Amino acid sequence: MSKTLIIGCGGVASVAIHKCCQNSSVFDDIMIASRTLSKCDSLREKLRGKTETRISTAQVNADKTEEVAALIREYKPDLVMNLALPYQDLKIMDACLAEGVSYLDTANYEPEDTAKFEYKWQWAYRDRFRQAGITALLGCGFDPGVTGVFSAYALKHHFDEINYIDILDCNAGDHGYPFATNFNPEINIREVSAKGSYWENGKWIETDPMQIKRVYNFPEIGERDMYLLHHEELESLALNIKGIKRIRFFMTFGQSYLTHLKCLENVGMTSIKPVMYEGREIVPLQFLKALLPDPSSLGPRTKGKTNIGCIFRGKKNGEEKNCYIYNVCDHESCFKEVGSQAVAYTTGVPAMIGAEMLLTKKWAKPGVFNVEEFDPDPFMDALNKWGLPWKENFNPELVD
Ligand SMILES: NC(=O)c1ccc[n+]([C@@H]2O[C@H](COP(=O)([O-])OP(=O)(O)OC[C@H]3O[C@@H](n4cnc5c(N)ncnc54)[C@H](OP(=O)(O)O)[C@@H]3O)[C@@H](O)[C@H]2O)c1
Repeated sequence: MSKTLIIGCGGVASVAIHKCCQNSSVFDDIMIASRTLSKCDSLREKLRGKTETRISTAQVNADKTEEVAALIREYKPDLVMNLALPYQDLKIMDACLAEGVSYLDTANYEPEDTAKFEYKWQWAYRDRFRQAGITALLGCGFDPGVTGVFSAYALKHHFDEINYIDILDCNAGDHGYPFATNFNPEINIREVSAKGSYWENGKWIETDPMQIKRVYNFPEIGERDMYLLHHEELESLALNIKGIKRIRFFMTFGQSYLTHLKCLENVGMTSIKPVMYEGREIVPLQFLKALLPDPSSLGPRTKGKTNIGCIFRGKKNGEEKNCYIYNVCDHESCFKEVGSQAVAYTTGVPAMIGAEMLLTKKWAKPGVFNVEEFDPDPFMDALNKWGLPWKENFNPELVD
């Protein structure tokens, strides 16, 4: 018997909730709580009669620790899954600490007024979570998330030390719009319009946005342009993976997306600084979000595949060795299964699996952790079981 409180009911949460409901022997009782109650209720209606999982719903403003804490006291969950936005991370962690409940999220904390995400705010909770005997599992989506599990798995089974990691995130899906984002537009645009960076020989090297471009021939997709970005798992993997000398993250973007983004940036529409408009303060990026297609509406129109994985270069028994571990996911199959496209699917499935790891105590230690700090094997098995099968290639094309 377990009870899971799921906060948020957007693209990622909807997939995670569908998957929890498929896995009802672990998730026999869930509560969906979000800012807009009607979204929670309509998802519960959609799932009615299709699952053994008992589902209740609630309205909560997760910007308010006391509201989350009150809901925890009322529902008494074993775990809180934070699938709302990164801005709520600390408030929800505070509520979990106050009520003595474990915590999971998929994206690290970012203050609303500064587009800079890093782990320092959440890592600062380590002692308090340890002392309270509860676990916080950070960044348990695909990237971050599965990319950390792939890294721990490669280190455990294929390498004595990993010296180079390139994380490659390719979305070759086509939704037919000239410009739309595949997950929350505000979070997505803040991420891709920020300066790039990678970690090398103990230091961060900063680049201009989209300054470093490579072309890569992705298995099951073909050649795509990809660009170096800063990404949150670089920070934790650089600390947690033995022998690491350099770690980089690349994401593919089509020309239409980049041209639109440049233009929006040039006119100031991606800014997060409030401006006055007709006597009222508005944040340009939040206004842009209101104009763009809702990512959850992309599901029925998106065709094509995603390929996300990691290329590892390191040593085994003194010999140089390479290994590429990746998952290919098909947008249309995801939509058929859970009514969402692959970007939400590849995040929501690992969130459900991470929650399963904590609830079944396959991953059990008190404190605040990133996924690569746990045994990767049960998670890797679960990826195959729950819709994200992975492949290994020991002679991959490398990125220069
Ligand atoms: N690790 C990865 O691989 C990965 C990949 C993609 C996304 N992500 C992360 O996944 C998370 C969810 O993304 P998404 O695309 O699902 O976003 P989304 O569709 O915008 O959904 C966000 C949900 O959170 C709710 N919410 C927002 N503020 C809230 C508050 N103060 N109190 C309660 N609920 C609140 C929203 O409620 P309303 O319905 O009222 O707006 C909505 O239901 C984000 O943190 C994103 O960064 C991680």
